[in-house]
Amino acid sequence: MSSRKSLVDRVWAREVLDSRGNPTVEVEIGLLDGARGRAIVPSGASTGAHEAVELRDGDISRYGGKGVLGAVANIQNKITPAIQGCDASNQVEIDRILLELDGTTNKSGLGANALLGVSLATAWAAANSENIPLYRYLNDQSTYVLPTPMCNLLNGGAHATNSTDFQEFMLVPVGASSFHQGIQWIAEIYQIIKHILSERNLATTVGDEGGFAPTLESNQAAMDLLIEAILRAGKKPERDISIALDPAATEIFSPEETYKLSRENKVLTGAEMVDLWAEWKSLYPIISIEDGLAEDDWSSWVLLTERLGADTQLVGDDLFVTNQERLMRGINLGAGNAILIKPNQIGTLTETLGAIKTAQQNGFNTVLSHRSGETEDHTIVHLAIATSSGQIKTGAPARGERTAKYNEILRIEDTLGKNAVYLGGEPFQIKKKD
Ligand code: PGA
Ligand code: ZN
Repeated sequence: MSSRKSLVDRVWAREVLDSRGNPTVEVEIGLLDGARGRAIVPSGASTGAHEAVELRDGDISRYGGKGVLGAVANIQNKITPAIQGCDASNQVEIDRILLELDGTTNKSGLGANALLGVSLATAWAAANSENIPLYRYLNDQSTYVLPTPMCNLLNGGAHATNSTDFQEFMLVPVGASSFHQGIQWIAEIYQIIKHILSERNLATTVGDEGGFAPTLESNQAAMDLLIEAILRAGKKPERDISIALDPAATEIFSPEETYKLSRENKVLTGAEMVDLWAEWKSLYPIISIEDGLAEDDWSSWVLLTERLGADTQLVGDDLFVTNQERLMRGINLGAGNAILIKPNQIGTLTETLGAIKTAQQNGFNTVLSHRSGETEDHTIVHLAIATSSGQIKTGAPARGERTAKYNEILRIEDTLGKNAVYLGGEPFQIKKKD
């Protein structure tokens, strides 16, 4: 709904902190009617080479070079004059202006962090102007699917030193009958894992996404730990709780095109990695594997999809980087069957929603995702609900920047009452190809 009242009046941009203590971009947009919207941009650690460019100052006298004053200045000096007076309820037009101002395909002109902050804050302002939640503003319907969470309980790789080679060991409450029951199960298991680690004199410190990061003897030991915790909680693996993995394999891919498992002193080829996932799949209740192979190892991805893709969700994160062109390549090749959606990998809300639509039209599952460097911003929750993605990945059921998302889903579940639907494991099912 377009009206004079929703015209952009003022834009504030500033440097704030993320969960790792690094600076990031916050944007507030004020409309003529007094409504305001705010968004904070997250930041990755195991970033894909094909992601849109996150502009950092590189001035080592501030924040070790990680300052974002350049991105903030781009918003203040270049973006603000271009969008003042524009209709915030016309998101497509705002994002078109942003892309035109940036003028590059990888968003290195103004920085994807500058673009995304403005893009999302605009959407929030427009929703607030209509006095409705963002998910409803983006998609007005009577019932909504709440996302089933993939909760990251054990952190490794680039998110925790001296831990597993693989980055994320997640639990999915597929058998819960509601979101709040699912998150309760996971939070209880989180405490049980802490207890088991203490019993074994292993560290109970946590990694970047709030999951524990013990030094274990092997990668597989992390899987056994999860199964033990599920059983101790009185839950049945697979029926109640399934396992989802994000090994973030690009991080362990070498220039020799092999995968290096330092923890186990092993070097595997792409085909041997596929064998490893097939073996794990036969041993554990694995429902989803994200980035089981590296971002440009397309032929191994096709192999993996042929081997496991009929009944395992295979999610491209670094592979697709929320980019419709890379996604189409995967769809055409038969590489993967799901896409991770991270708005800051691409830079604008319109492109993010476009990637989700392309995926859904082609039978690919969609998973909204946080980054390892996060904040209290919970926009991804609203995007997951608005698009009926049915899945969200937002870390451990602990630490404020992670619980900000879970708590927002709990609030929405409470507000919607019987108009909130929780589908458990259903959104993970693989769509049959015609
Ligand atoms: P990142 O990790 O935010 O550090 O990229 C998250 C992921 O790989 O899914
Ligand atoms: Zn990932």
